[in-house]
Amino acid sequence: MDLLKFFKYVDEHQTHYVSLLREAVEIKSVSAWPEARPEIVKMVHWVGDRLKKLGATVEYRDVGEQELPSGQKLALPPVLLGQLGTDPAKRTLCVYGHLDVQPAAREDGWATEPFQLIEKDGQLFGRGATDDKGPVLCWLHAVEALQATGQDIPINIKFVFEGMEESGSEGLDDLLAAEKDKFLAGTDFVCISDNYWLGKKKPCITYGLRGVCYFFIEVQCAKQDLHSGIFGGTVHEAMSDLMYMMNTLVDAEGRILVDGLKEQVAPLTPEERALYKDIDFDPEDYRKDIGTNCCIQKGDKAETLMARWRHPSLSLHGVHGAFSEDGAKTVIPMKVTGKFSIRIVPNMTPESVEKCVVEYLNKQWKKRASPNEMKAFMFHGGRCWVTDLTCPDLCVCRQAFMFHGGRCWVTDPHHPHYQAGARAIKSVFGVEPDLTREGGSIPVTLTFQEVTGKNVMLLPVGACDDGAHSQNEKINMTNYIQGIKMLGSYMNEVSKISE
Ligand code: BES
Ligand code: MN
Ligand code: MN
Repeated sequence: MDLLKFFKYVDEHQTHYVSLLREAVEIKSVSAWPEARPEIVKMVHWVGDRLKKLGATVEYRDVGEQELPSGQKLALPPVLLGQLGTDPAKRTLCVYGHLDVQPAAREDGWATEPFQLIEKDGQLFGRGATDDKGPVLCWLHAVEALQATGQDIPINIKFVFEGMEESGSEGLDDLLAAEKDKFLAGTDFVCISDNYWLGKKKPCITYGLRGVCYFFIEVQCAKQDLHSGIFGGTVHEAMSDLMYMMNTLVDAEGRILVDGLKEQVAPLTPEERALYKDIDFDPEDYRKDIGTNCCIQKGDKAETLMARWRHPSLSLHGVHGAFSEDGAKTVIPMKVTGKFSIRIVPNMTPESVEKCVVEYLNKQWKKRASPNEMKAFMFHGGRCWVTDLTCPDLCVCRQAFMFHGGRCWVTDPHHPHYQAGARAIKSVFGVEPDLTREGGSIPVTLTFQEVTGKNVMLLPVGACDDGAHSQNEKINMTNYIQGIKMLGSYMNEVSKISE
């Protein structure tokens, strides 16, 4: 492969690549908004059309419907299965990415329209720019640039692009299992570009993800909301009960108080401990980027990284049903639902975590000795939830999402596949990548590993400060363009893996 010719072509076509990302960002493929479902379908077809132009065969797989509690059915968007090349003499790479995005609105504090791509100071702002439309487009551009420079695509590629990742990838696990000996047969390696560099300058390769389990605590104290002047002092209030319950979960140092969880965490070996030492990471930069006064690990590099990658964490997310608007309203809410999640790590499983958490909360409830109704439960496989579509309170509907617990994943970063990834990075950036793990979750990663039985690698394109899920999400122009080169070079390296 003539890498220099390929790199030069990519550099010369930057404006074209930006204009395609602009088109993609303009499609509001928000999987948490039921009314945006047609936009996801549009996005999936947009990518399918581009893949066809590159010569790939494309199939759109129906993965069924989701049933809402109201009994209403909502079709899931199709999963795109694309195949480029079927040469038995070549290595076959399976690439996964997602085409849906998180919700976004100008009012959330965006400086610009979230669904318009804005180029400013070498940064491309827009929802999905880094999570995950930008990286998905990098794959397509890499193929296009290789073809345009008259080069053979050195591997066969199977593309799996879905549109429900941000809402729990419903239907995908089943599809992948069913395609084990069909579409996925012959896969040699799996690569996912849906995470971020550890810092802003240095590329990395990622060999682990935390999983996630999401919980609800419901407390009801009355059959309707009550005036606190009339009823206050006579009612065991649901909010006080819920605050008590939520405050039993984690202490001020972030330690999870739920019994039986830390025993499940894989012990730290001296070898693993040693890995953190050489990683290029500055806890002080990290703290400043967050804009927080002091991190729990007080600037200790290894402890900070371990807290993010290899320890579980518990986050309190919100309370539904409580008064939260501006101003003062003297109300006693009749029913409140607290929401929290736990990022899980080896050797925790969603099942073991669910059991410990529910038992623990029931025990705490007994101590509280409240006469109210309390229900603590986890969302899990097959059990989904979405707010009533007819709900007049659009804000609530817009937060609705489907969820089923996600498993964690770790693999061996010394696999020849990872060495190929490292060589690709070296060819573009001139440095050896750090080997990282991530605190976030991509629940299908483990499914790909189990179904194909092959090595899975995460090869990120974006930087740590891209603001995925946040206001002003962006991807740096350099990350986007170098990402195309990296993925093209990686295809070349994969073609040469002999084992
Ligand atoms: N791209 C992220 C996964 C990710 C997040 C990787 C942070 C590395 C760091 C993905 O799109 C995502 O947001 N995943 C959700 C999964 C959930 C909806 C099951 C997450 O991590 O919250
Ligand atoms: Mn993502
Ligand atoms: Mn995401």
